Amino acid sequence: MPKNLSELSGRKGIVDSLFEKMGQAAVEEGTPSKEELERLADEFLIGKANTYGAVTFYDFMKPENKGKKVYVCNGSACLCAGTQESVKKDLQKHFKEEEIGHMTCLGRCHENAAFHLDGYNYSGKAIKEISSVIAEDHKTSSDSYAVEAHGIAVLTAEYDKKELFHLLRNALRRDSSEILDEIKASGLRGRGGAGFPIGFKLESCLSVESDTKFIICNADEGDPGAYSDRYLMEERPLAVLFGMMIAGYAAGANWGILYIRAEYPDSVKIIQSAIEELRHQNLLGDNIQGSGFTFDFKIIKAQGAYICGEETALINSIEGQRPEVRARPPYPTQDGLFGKPTAVNNVETLAGLLYIIEHGGSAYKAIGTERSSGTKLVCLDSGFNQPGIVEVEMGTPLSEVVYKWGDGFKEPVKALHIGGPLGGIVPLSKIDDLTVDFESFTQSGFLLGHASVVSIPKSFSLMEYINHLFDFASYESCGKCFPCRLGTKRAHELTESSLKNGVKIDRELFDDLLHTLAAGSLCAHGGGIPLPVRNAMEYFNDELTTYFN
Ligand SMILES: Cc1cc2nc3c(=O)[nH]c(=O)nc-3n(C[C@H](O)[C@H](O)[C@H](O)COP(=O)(O)O)c2cc1C
Ligand code: SF4
Repeated sequence: MPKNLSELSGRKGIVDSLFEKMGQAAVEEGTPSKEELERLADEFLIGKANTYGAVTFYDFMKPENKGKKVYVCNGSACLCAGTQESVKKDLQKHFKEEEIGHMTCLGRCHENAAFHLDGYNYSGKAIKEISSVIAEDHKTSSDSYAVEAHGIAVLTAEYDKKELFHLLRNALRRDSSEILDEIKASGLRGRGGAGFPIGFKLESCLSVESDTKFIICNADEGDPGAYSDRYLMEERPLAVLFGMMIAGYAAGANWGILYIRAEYPDSVKIIQSAIEELRHQNLLGDNIQGSGFTFDFKIIKAQGAYICGEETALINSIEGQRPEVRARPPYPTQDGLFGKPTAVNNVETLAGLLYIIEHGGSAYKAIGTERSSGTKLVCLDSGFNQPGIVEVEMGTPLSEVVYKWGDGFKEPVKALHIGGPLGGIVPLSKIDDLTVDFESFTQSGFLLGHASVVSIPKSFSLMEYINHLFDFASYESCGKCFPCRLGTKRAHELTESSLKNGVKIDRELFDDLLHTLAAGSLCAHGGGIPLPVRNAMEYFNDELTTYFN
């Protein structure tokens, strides 16, 4: 059935998008009307259960969130900073309880006190000016954070637009197989978490016969603590689009789709205007510069669901289906969006292609370590003396990032949660053992992931933190497989009742539950959530033991 739905949704192509129409129908009231859902179901021949099933999944379309006017960030960094209770209190002076919702996360982890109002994000001191924000329709939503490269600047280097356009024109004069070879030679591995080499993904997409192929830029950066994809889209937009075009040229794809989270309204606007710049340069459309390469972009604004960062849920989402994870194989490169070959890559992975085309694959390969080439953006939250984004060569000691570039912590910290909610909890005592690369983290029982760093203060209860992780995991579970659908919820119930009612958790039962989640889940959402919990139990047993019998 989902396969039929893919074809029906794809009947009108990517430009006339069911998902986009559902999003537009939700703008006025916060949720589409029943009549509009039925009309869309008829238009796309998919049945009203499907349109209903899809919209009820998303924060920005579900009927329960109708009438919400302002959203408070409930991500991990804002939680650890302890700013959100007072943000909510200040908002309650201006909004009714039922008008206040939640968003996870706004990517303002470097400033905290984050909230979203009328399509704008605010953080830091903005809440103190909330009266004037509302009264004067004062829409300034800017934030500031440090960005520094230590070593070679691959992703943070400024580009000259004219040179970038020139580089693109030259690249399209080269044979596409040469471009693919260059990418493979770089050894660039995906930065979205799994670390899969992009060259192999593009080659796999190329090898499947099809009249249409897609490059999808996964800009659903949902990991609380991460804002490096946001940085790239807002400060280096042409590098991201350049990378997508190069990937499209190498894989024989003719569409580049940017799936950008709605929590990043500025990214959507900035990427849109960068697309227009490329169009103005005659670098988009049919037979670009006589190269025989036809390519165009489409932005799809997401609607608030963490699981849509998982590539197959993301594809279902674009198709207007309920964004449940798909079983693999077939892989998206064989059978992806609308059943067509599709390469899904992270923003940072794609932005890295600019350096590779400019300097060559072997120059990129020479940076970093043997198995983790290139550089990595690391996001530091407000717990650091110098919050912001640092670009470091893969293989850089973590201690350097923390103490030299992040300048240590504002208050005593006991652990770092690195790599998003599914990443490991690294005790401070382990920092000296780790280097910023895939292998070092995995070998030590952690995960580099997208390399966001949330600092957990000594004063913050780890059981509260674990409870927050299970709350997040159960809320964001797509519900497709029962170990995760039920397991994350049961785990949250256990941690919640131990915190609130002092009910001791049966250690054996809990261990069994973690094992079932890790071994039985269909994707890394349910499969990954036990990792930080196990790390916490291993390294902070003294603190946690009181909650178990
Ligand atoms: C629960 C979950 C959430 C994910 N969220 C993201 C995300 O926000 N951004 C992203 O690029 N990849 C995310 N991924 C990984 C994607 O499924 C996929 O591996 C990635 O987009 C591939 O791009 P890459 O090879 O360039 O990393 C997520 C995976 C899971 C299981
Ligand atoms: S592990 Fe969770 S998110 Fe992943 S498929 Fe199963 S229910 Fe969905």
